[in-house]
Amino acid sequence: MLNKDKHYTLLLVKPDGYERGLTGEVLRRIERKGYKLVALRICQADEATLANHYAEHVNKPFYKGLIDYMMSAPVVAAVIEGQNVVEGLRSLTGATKPTEAAPGTIRGDFARDWDDDSVRNIVHASDSLESAWREIPIWFDDLV
Ligand code: CMP
Repeated sequence: MLNKDKHYTLLLVKPDGYERGLTGEVLRRIERKGYKLVALRICQADEATLANHYAEHVNKPFYKGLIDYMMSAPVVAAVIEGQNVVEGLRSLTGATKPTEAAPGTIRGDFARDWDDDSVRNIVHASDSLESAWREIPIWFDDLV
């Protein structure tokens, strides 16, 4: 069970990261920074889970492409703990758009743009503590 007084974030290694064998590299960077891995699973995401996770994007033009991408291979879901871990993970992952992500960040080092306009950016990390508490039970129904 998670402790309401601690800071957690939800990390997803997306299908491109998983298929390219980058899961270990992503987790290595997070652990090396000093954050604690408290839950981990590999799963094939289904449409209902993704609709819940990406509820704020359902009406966006890129939604269908995003769901197809997220179902194209397994994802690795993880809960990460540490003081200010939401902000910390966002710095480690870098900007959403691969070309804008700074070198040294996960997306800056391992992702690039593609001519189909898909945003294959290796990882997802919650954008706030509120989002983390909303997203974690979607992927780990036994933790919250
Ligand atoms: P993520 O951090 O998982 O949050 C929402 C995701 O939607 C984002 O990463 C990208 O994978 C995707 N996304 C955001 N903006 C766009 C866009 N303009 N076109 C395609 N996909 C996008």
